[in-house]
Amino acid sequence: METLRHIVVFVHLIGFAVLFGAWVVEATSRRFGVTRLMNWGLAIAGVAGLVLAAPWGISYEPNYVKIGVKLVVLIVIGALIGIGSARQRRGGSVPPAIFWSIGVLTLANAGIAVIWR
Ligand code: HEM
Repeated sequence: METLRHIVVFVHLIGFAVLFGAWVVEATSRRFGVTRLMNWGLAIAGVAGLVLAAPWGISYEPNYVKIGVKLVVLIVIGALIGIGSARQRRGGSVPPAIFWSIGVLTLANAGIAVIWR
């Protein structure tokens, strides 16, 4: 059970890597757009995160306040990616505030995960 949980944490981290990696590629190539890969990363991190939110394979009580905050941040990131891609589809560019917030909030969620115990 414990090993299975570690595998789900691994999948969760892959989702984070895909989401943040896709964002870094957009930032460093100066395209500043949103891409399908970001949606995939968010979906993988989100599904694995929800699975991890249940208390299985651990001997302690999960920090539900922290998990709730992470869920809210994930929903906000999803909304920003949605608004950004709608703007892109209409031929416009993603507003800088939306683009940068996606990266900052993704890092914030990883920071919350590792720093808040
Ligand atoms: C963009 C979104 C997210 C990012 C970047 C992210 C990042 C991370 C990272 C880096 C870890 C590893 C921390 C560690 O092992 O010390 C982690 C663990 C965890 N995350 Fe997330 N996360 C995200 C979304 C979510 C969501 C939506 C949930 C739940 C609703 C969630 C629940 C958890 C849980 C429960 C753990 C602890 C796993 C364990 O050690 O058993 N995460 N997350």
